[in-house]
Amino acid sequence: MEWSVPLADLDYGEAEEAAVLGVLRSKWLTMGAVTQEFEKAFAALCGAAYAISVSNATEALHLACLALGIGPGDEVIVPSLSFVATANAVLYTGADVVFADIHSEEDLTISVADIERKITPRTKAMIVMHYAGYACQMPELLALAKEHGLAVIEDVAHAPGAFLEGRALGTWGDVGCFSFFSNKNLATGEGGMLVTQREDLAQKFLYYRSHGMTTLTYDRHKGHAYSYDVVALGYNYRIDEIRAALGLAQLAKLAGNNQRRALLTVQYHQALKGLVELPFARHAGEAAYHILPVLLPQGVERKAFQDHLRDCKIQTSMHYPPIHRFSYYQKRYGINSSLPLTEAVAAREVTLPLYPGMTGEQLASVVGAIREFIHS
Ligand SMILES: Cc1ncc(COP(=O)(O)O)c(C=O)c1O
Repeated sequence: MEWSVPLADLDYGEAEEAAVLGVLRSKWLTMGAVTQEFEKAFAALCGAAYAISVSNATEALHLACLALGIGPGDEVIVPSLSFVATANAVLYTGADVVFADIHSEEDLTISVADIERKITPRTKAMIVMHYAGYACQMPELLALAKEHGLAVIEDVAHAPGAFLEGRALGTWGDVGCFSFFSNKNLATGEGGMLVTQREDLAQKFLYYRSHGMTTLTYDRHKGHAYSYDVVALGYNYRIDEIRAALGLAQLAKLAGNNQRRALLTVQYHQALKGLVELPFARHAGEAAYHILPVLLPQGVERKAFQDHLRDCKIQTSMHYPPIHRFSYYQKRYGINSSLPLTEAVAAREVTLPLYPGMTGEQLASVVGAIREFIHS
């Protein structure tokens, strides 16, 4: 399908081409100086003591759970209104997920009160997801976690470069897990990053990322080591230099692109007021404006709405089909009917196109198509 307004579009150009060429010409393809530079720059962006890259956020979430000692017999509270990886990462460890509802139709992030209701003696941690790039209620979540001795993992896939009270999202909890998948605000194709202030966790991430080995091929190439020990059961979750170079080029554009997303979001909200409901019209902190979710008025059929926009060559999506409703999760846990807001929002949500290169005309055509459908 040739979209006149796609859902998302990469901001890729000469900087990314030069970055990749630089790596190819260096003839060093994985876990070298460029990866180190990317990690350093990302840590600086977040004000984090440690940033450790991996090849996607699913792996970051898995390692976050492992390093926090989550395993069989434990429960981790997660949002159902998220990408399935948020929950899958917990299951990889042998622990169970418990789904919590969202706050409201305005704030689609995980509900502090519902987490509190779902804490049991088995609860070990919570994973909170900054939906669409808007901050979860972090001070309240941290207070609750402290009261019950729970670890806090932030799924920051939507929110690189977002802040709350001047503190980067991803650095509020024990660990933050970022995604650099192709449609993200900072895109490297596949890619991910763990950030933490805790040295003990950082050391575990380094081991788990690369087979539990005490030295890397790069160390040996540099003449710093001849051999290695294996001190943990690790994985190959490494990123490569090509993606790290793309990450550096994209990092340089992130603040400007997030600002452009913010401006487009304000324009959308002004133009769509009264036509559809607008989650996060009010929110705390500096968001990353990753996606543009709207809720259709009661009674409007979503498929007909999306079909109309598709006929106008405008791509839409939905975020998300709730995780607890997927067949796999149904088989495993059965219907969890205590998520009424998640269900209500998931039935009415449509995600509209949003990307830094979107023009005023493109935005106007999306708004025009919506107005036409709602008033027809
Ligand atoms: C909220 C959320 N969590 C986790 C992930 C997983 O990220 P990745 O594709 O880098 O594994 C995504 C990616 O789409 C996401 O949107």
